[in-house]
Amino acid sequence: MDDSLLTRIADEIAEKGWSITDHFLPDMLLRTLVTEAETIWDSGEFSRAGIGAGSNLALRPEIRSDRVHWLEPGRLTPAQQQYWDTIDTLRETLNRTLFLSARSFEAHLAVYPPGSFYKKHLDQHAEVQHRLISCILYLNEGWVETDGGYLRIYHQSDESGFTDVLPLWGRFACFRSDLIFHEVLPGTRERFSLTGWLRREALF
Ligand code: OGA
Ligand code: MN
Repeated sequence: MDDSLLTRIADEIAEKGWSITDHFLPDMLLRTLVTEAETIWDSGEFSRAGIGAGSNLALRPEIRSDRVHWLEPGRLTPAQQQYWDTIDTLRETLNRTLFLSARSFEAHLAVYPPGSFYKKHLDQHAEVQHRLISCILYLNEGWVETDGGYLRIYHQSDESGFTDVLPLWGRFACFRSDLIFHEVLPGTRERFSLTGWLRREALF
């Protein structure tokens, strides 16, 4: 991973709280991650996503209607492990430049069936502030504007302002989990992503 790329991501997060990078991974790796995600989706191993954490975890279909499949750090495929390793370099850069103390990474695959959404929210839970940085890799080949499914990022400086980001193949969105309000707008196609969070404490 190119150092200047990681530094740019860190600088943008320091400046405005979020950063978008296209072609974040090599094509071959991305292709494998997509094929694996589709296989898991086809085998039905996704469940309805909830909101909150711990005992406050609840299914709230009026707030979010995506499906998720959590990846287990001890049971990653080689491609998933490569992605974890990439995120680990990013984690070190962010810790150094933003004075964060992110120690671990958790992630799930997410599928938004046509018409599903996730209303405006923050990723850091009010009850437990484990999540520091949200990292989303989009896996959608041939996605075009009329497919919708935008990630809407609300500007920190002025919340009436926002930027809409298409979930394009290989695009990587990264933002402060405690500061950046965002939402997923409904789309017309199945929308795949690998969504994860750098966390404050070591896992388990
Ligand atoms: C989330 C989320 C955004 C996206 O899973 O918390 O906000 O673009 N996802 O998938
Ligand atoms: Mn979110």
